[in-house]
Amino acid sequence: MAILPIRIHPDPVLRGPTKEVHDFDANLARLLGDLEETMRDAPGTGLAAPQVGIQRRIAIYDAGDGVLELMNPKIVSRFGEQRGEEGCLSIPGIYFDVTRSFEVKIVAQDRHGDPFELEAEEFEAVVIQHEIDHLEGVLFIDLLEPEDQKLAKKLILEGLVTGSVLPNRATI
Ligand code: CO
Repeated sequence: MAILPIRIHPDPVLRGPTKEVHDFDANLARLLGDLEETMRDAPGTGLAAPQVGIQRRIAIYDAGDGVLELMNPKIVSRFGEQRGEEGCLSIPGIYFDVTRSFEVKIVAQDRHGDPFELEAEEFEAVVIQHEIDHLEGVLFIDLLEPEDQKLAKKLILEGLVTGSVLPNRATI
């Protein structure tokens, strides 16, 4: 396994597009191992392939119950609303409140290509929505309230995104 360099906003690779995964092979297994090592080293709660420069529909996360690997994930239903602080490994150093669905149901494939369904709520649902956004070229700063977005852009322009990841906060 290897720690891969994490791409930092405004790297255009973060804005997509991404392609579906069709080959569930040893290369995919190696990439998933590298993503996990990179996520743990950061440290972050989730990591999507575009964040290491790979434009494929692959994301992993660990919301506290071990690593989950999502290939070609798709949200099939959503319910409710929640609001909480998020940060991103590709925009290190800034954290803002984001409004998300409270609960999501997704379909995805595992590393062998086998399809599965997953229902998640609260923080796990936030992480899943954040990661799937990465596969669409969407960053959490795109979802902020206008005032927060203005502030975020100012902080980014001032170079504060080179700040460090805060281990005890939601860096997704
Ligand atoms: Co992120």
